[in-house]
Amino acid sequence: MIQKSFVMMKPDAVQRRLMGKIMSRFEEKGLQIVAVKLMQIDEELAKTHYGEHADKPFFPSLVEYITSSPALAMVIEGEEAITTIRKLVGATNPLEADLGTIRGDYGMNTGRNIIHASDSPASAEREIGLFFNEDEICDYQIVDNDLIYE
Ligand code: PPS
Repeated sequence: MIQKSFVMMKPDAVQRRLMGKIMSRFEEKGLQIVAVKLMQIDEELAKTHYGEHADKPFFPSLVEYITSSPALAMVIEGEEAITTIRKLVGATNPLEADLGTIRGDYGMNTGRNIIHASDSPASAEREIGLFFNEDEICDYQIVDNDLIYE
């Protein structure tokens, strides 16, 4: 099943100049980047995006972190993209993330864990809608997809 997922490189990834390397991981896997936006996330958007965690003790520091500097929002497409991307990203706490995953390789601490990825089709739809207009998502064919999918 071809899915779209929402992925966001958090401000620490942008500040540490990891954008290109992290984007390459998704492309090298065979996923297709269909929308990209470098943006300064405001408090309202951060609070809406992470709304389900509003009651958690870490919520204020999470909002402060996400709004501290630009983030790179993306829509990434591929077969079973949501699960595939979560595997590439690794566990929330970089200490528990396997080496070879993005958080396992680049993160040290949950409060600076590099990247966000949608955890379900419903979250992906909601998050894509929060960050992108329909006309910002490119629907295009990759010519060598038959090298990636059976
Ligand atoms: S929970 O409590 O299990 O529902 O939370 P969890 O799924 O682990 O995390 C939800 C998002 O909050 C981020 N998070 C934090 N940010 C900053 N500081 C601390 N201490 C912290 N703990 C959790 C976590 O990275 C999740 O964000 P995303 O962007 O989805 O990874």
